[in-house]
Order: sequence, then C-alpha cells, then structure tokens
Amino acid sequence: MIDRNLNETSLETLVSLCKRRGFIFQSSEIYGGLSSVWDYGPVGSELKRNVKNAWWKSMVSDQENIVGIDASILMHPNVWKASGHLENFSDPLVECNKCKKRFRADHMENNNCPEKCGGTLGDPRQFNLMFKTFLGAMEDSSSEVYLRPETAQAMFVNFENVINSSRKKIPFGIAQIGKSFRNEITPGNFTYRTREFEQMEMEFFCEPGTDEKWHEHWIQFSFDWFNKYGIRKENLKVRYHDKDELPHYSKASADIEYLFPWGWGELETISNRTDYDLIAHSKLSGKNLSYFDENLKKRYTPFVVEPAMGADRSALAFLSDAYDEEGKDKDKRVVLRFHPDIAPNKVAVLPLSRNEKLTPTARKIYENISKKYNAEYDDTQSIGKRYRRQDEIGTPVCITVDFDTVENDNCVTIRNRDTMEQIRVNIDSIDKNINNVLEQISKYSSNS
Ligand code: GAP
Repeated sequence: MIDRNLNETSLETLVSLCKRRGFIFQSSEIYGGLSSVWDYGPVGSELKRNVKNAWWKSMVSDQENIVGIDASILMHPNVWKASGHLENFSDPLVECNKCKKRFRADHMENNNCPEKCGGTLGDPRQFNLMFKTFLGAMEDSSSEVYLRPETAQAMFVNFENVINSSRKKIPFGIAQIGKSFRNEITPGNFTYRTREFEQMEMEFFCEPGTDEKWHEHWIQFSFDWFNKYGIRKENLKVRYHDKDELPHYSKASADIEYLFPWGWGELETISNRTDYDLIAHSKLSGKNLSYFDENLKKRYTPFVVEPAMGADRSALAFLSDAYDEEGKDKDKRVVLRFHPDIAPNKVAVLPLSRNEKLTPTARKIYENISKKYNAEYDDTQSIGKRYRRQDEIGTPVCITVDFDTVENDNCVTIRNRDTMEQIRVNIDSIDKNINNVLEQISKYSSNS
C-alpha cells in the first residue's frame, strides 16, 4: 500500500502537467485556441482510450446480457421531438441590455449584470442546448438536424433491431461510446464541462417492477468500477437527486461524484428512465416498441435503467486522483499513480546511455516487450530525467539496460513506479517480472 497525499492538487498544476507531458492541449492553439475545446495528445489519447476500453470490458465484454452498438451522431429530428429534448433540454437565460452577454438565470443573485458594465438583466428566456445544423444543400427548416446531446437515443430507436438481430431477452442492455454535443452556457474547469465530449452509456431494459432493484444494482456497479480502476473510495460518493432536479425523463437518478480539485462534481448519472423513451418513440413513429416476454407470457413496454458516464470527466478524475508529489523543491518527484490498465504506457525501456554497446540489447528488449505491452523506448537525456518523465506520465514499470547487462550478467533492472523498488532480473524472465509488478500495482490500486 502506498502512503498518499490527500487530493490537494490544484487544477492549474494538472493543466500544466497535461500540456507539458502531452496529455491534453487546447484546441487550435496556434490560432489562439477555441474556448473550452480540448485535444488529447500522445499520452492523453492513450489514457482516454484505456478509460473507454476498461468501461467497454466491464460493461459489454464481461456481461453476457449486454451488447454494444456504434450509432451515428446525426439522427432524425423526430428523435429529439419524441425524447423531449426539443421541448425540455434548455437552460433559462437572461441577457444584459448593455453588453448583450447571456447568463444562466438560476445563477444570478439580482438584476445587475455580473460583468459590472452597468447594464441590467432582462427577463429569463429558454435557450435550447442542442447544436443545430443542416443536412444536405438546403439551409431551411426542412433540412434542420441536431448533433446528438446524448448517445442514449440511438439505443431506444434501435431497440427492435437489436432484439431481432441479437436474440437477447429481457433483462438485457445496449451500450455505446460516442461523442455528444451541448451548447453549454457555462463550460469550464478544463475538460469537466465542454461543448463537445464523449459519453459511455448503457440502457438496461427490464421488466417494470424490477426497475428499482436494477437501479440500485447499477449505482453500486458504477461506484465499484471507479474504485476498481484506482480512484480512492474517500474521493467518491453517491448523491441521489432531489425531485426538483431530476431530468425530464427520470423517475429517480443518482450521481457518482468525485472530489475534483475545485470540489465535488458529477462523473456519472444513473437514472431510472422508466418506459418514458420507448413509449414516446412508439407514439411518434407508430412502431410498437413493446416486448413479449416468453417466460412471463405477457407483453409490456420495458423499463430502462441507464448508467451514463462521461469519458472526458472520468479521464480527468483518473488524472487528478493519480497525481502525487513526494519530496520538496529540486528533490520533488511528481508521479501519476495510475492503475496499470489506465496508465498510457505500461513499460519504458531506458538504456543507461546511447552507448553503442547498449543499444542493440536495449532495442531487442523493447521490440519483444512492445509486442505485448504499450511500451516506450527512451535514450535521450540523463537516466534521472527519463525516470522523472516516466513517473509524470504514470508508467508503472521501467527497465534499465546498463553495462553489466551486456558485459557481465545478462540482467536488467526493473523498477516499480510506486515503491521505487529496483530488482535485478535475467533478460529471459523480464516478461514474468513485468507481470508481477503490474499485478502488485493493480492489487493495491483497486483497494485504495
Ligand atoms: N443520457 C443521459 C445523460 O446524458 P447526463 O447526466 O446529462 O445524462 C451523462 O450526462 C454524463 O455525461 C455526465 O455524468 C458527464 O460525465 C457527461 N457530461 C454531460 N455533459 C457534459 C459536458 N458538457 N462536458 C463533459 N461531460 C459531460
């Protein structure tokens, strides 16, 4: 078990590490950037991919009764009419009569413009959060479509297709990972609230009456998932929604919240959507989306429980929770203590120097290892600086090749990121030893 500092990382520290080490960059930076839009760099894209892979494995591959889909971002406009997003997916906004800026009405304390321009705020108006665009050459209301604000609707409109093609029986789930878009009024806190983001959602179809039991099941599952992949229990909590904050489709919702550097924030919402969506789509499309349950010999419209998680928010939480500092000033060591499944690279091969005696052996080791693990070869700068870099991107295992390796013992040094323990092992047993270290780190990371 590693003795960790509690979450005292500032957001600025994370943002600066992300840029320095290639996790996250501001979009279109050379043009001054686009506000609240972000790009994942070389290690960031690996991190986010690992988060999505871990979710897909737990939610789809390891579940006999859940299947995946990969649907389009553009959908028929009637989808958003039926789902209630056209009518309900809006924020109340007020506009300043002087500077013309708009603000969330429910965030304002009085009628004075918060920009202190001397203007006053008008009456609240509803502002729909969906991005609108046009399909095809015509730019008129007949060609208007929306970028999806949630991935969930594709699971409802494909309910019948999935049942007919996969022969799943209720209870079963349909999952999807994909981009969603919301024209948020107040984006911010780095990648926490953005206008373009990725969601990981699963719609679980069940018999009405069993929905509350499944709701509790998926809340616990979600909490355990974050902890399994290394987020410390004390930084996670479940928060049930009050009735007046429930989304328009939900009978009950609970958030998994994480203690971000600025305070508690939502990572995932698990909602009991009842039969709201299937009934609404049945009505508007004219297609009967009820289900005949062969075991119960009756027909019903299934209820739906939905765990809905953000991939970007989760990646940010994994980053924030992994961040640790040891020592002070010039002896300070910054280390990202990722769970090995989440870490961008698993192994780094670091020859002591670029000496030509070391390179062939080090390259051969790297080439073998990289067939199995996401690995990096680095022979630039001093060995100390290279260790620092690997610590800052959270690489669990470093392998050093030195002169003894090639001249004396055919052994390398394997270093554990967290304990800093170094062991000398024969080249033939590198694989087994990498495995041991990864398993050791996974074990204490999952129980933190
Ligand atoms: N289908 C239900 C749904 O979309 P939600 O609570 O609005 O529910 C689910 O969104 C998750 O998507 C959130 O818990 C959050 O992690 C992520 N999310 C939502 N809006 C976001 C935004 N503007 N930026 C980043 N992530 C967002």
